[in-house]
Amino acid sequence: MIPILRLEAIRHSYGGHFTLDIPSLAIWPGEVFAVVGPSGAGKSTLLRLLNFLEKPQQGRVYLHEKAYTASNLPIELRRRMAAVFQQPLLLNASVWRNVSYGLRVRGSRNGRDAIQQALDEVRLTHLAKHPAHRLSGGEAQRVSLARALVLNPEVLFLDEPTANLDPGNVRIIEDIIRQANQVRGATVVLVTHNIWQARRLAHRVALLFDGEIIETAAVDDFFQHPQDPRTQAFLTGDLIY
Ligand SMILES: Nc1ncnc2c1ncn2[C@@H]1O[C@H](COP(=O)(O)OP(=O)(O)O)[C@@H](O)[C@H]1O
Ligand SMILES: [Mg+2]
Repeated sequence: MIPILRLEAIRHSYGGHFTLDIPSLAIWPGEVFAVVGPSGAGKSTLLRLLNFLEKPQQGRVYLHEKAYTASNLPIELRRRMAAVFQQPLLLNASVWRNVSYGLRVRGSRNGRDAIQQALDEVRLTHLAKHPAHRLSGGEAQRVSLARALVLNPEVLFLDEPTANLDPGNVRIIEDIIRQANQVRGATVVLVTHNIWQARRLAHRVALLFDGEIIETAAVDDFFQHPQDPRTQAFLTGDLIY
């Protein structure tokens, strides 16, 4: 099996104070890979590099073992990826129109079934005609997820998708992520500072700390037998963040 995404010899700095330093990292097809770590550790930066939104200052990003950058990634490969961020960015239009947006951009016709399916998956069929700007924060995030799912992405990138949401919406969104992985077969890269969410959803977990991956392990090993003292401290809450 070849990795779906792979980082090699990545170094990426902001000013003098932060460097993301990843000698190597592979994301495997079909997995849910969670990145946890304190605020400012570099989680979002790592996600932007994996997602070809940002070009690394040093090193290479491979998709299916071919190196690309943000500027030369072919559009048909770009279209196999979708991302959802902490703050949903919705159009001032109906829920339906928001979900159909990505399909329209891609010139896709006959999207009705796909839109209906995505709305069912995020449990918002009853709000299809509702203006998106009147939704709650959790509903708006579920629209963002539907907009990503309707594209049936090969890789789904999620950056803190449930931060600041109520427990009911967190539960629904975790179900949506699980279903995207298990039913649609999407590979999921999930950034979260909620370690319990990582434990519930991920197959593998990486701890990012100060721009470096301290430990990567299968989910049970990560939580039951953490190897690095900083992972132990993070899990017990002794690492302040
Ligand atoms: N575009 C940017 N310009 C300058 N500094 C940035 C930029 N993006 C992130 N940083 C800095 O890089 C560090 C890591 O940020 P980030 O990747 O957002 O961490 P996390 O998502 O783990 O909170 C922080 O110190 C942040 O202030
Ligand atoms: Mg972040």
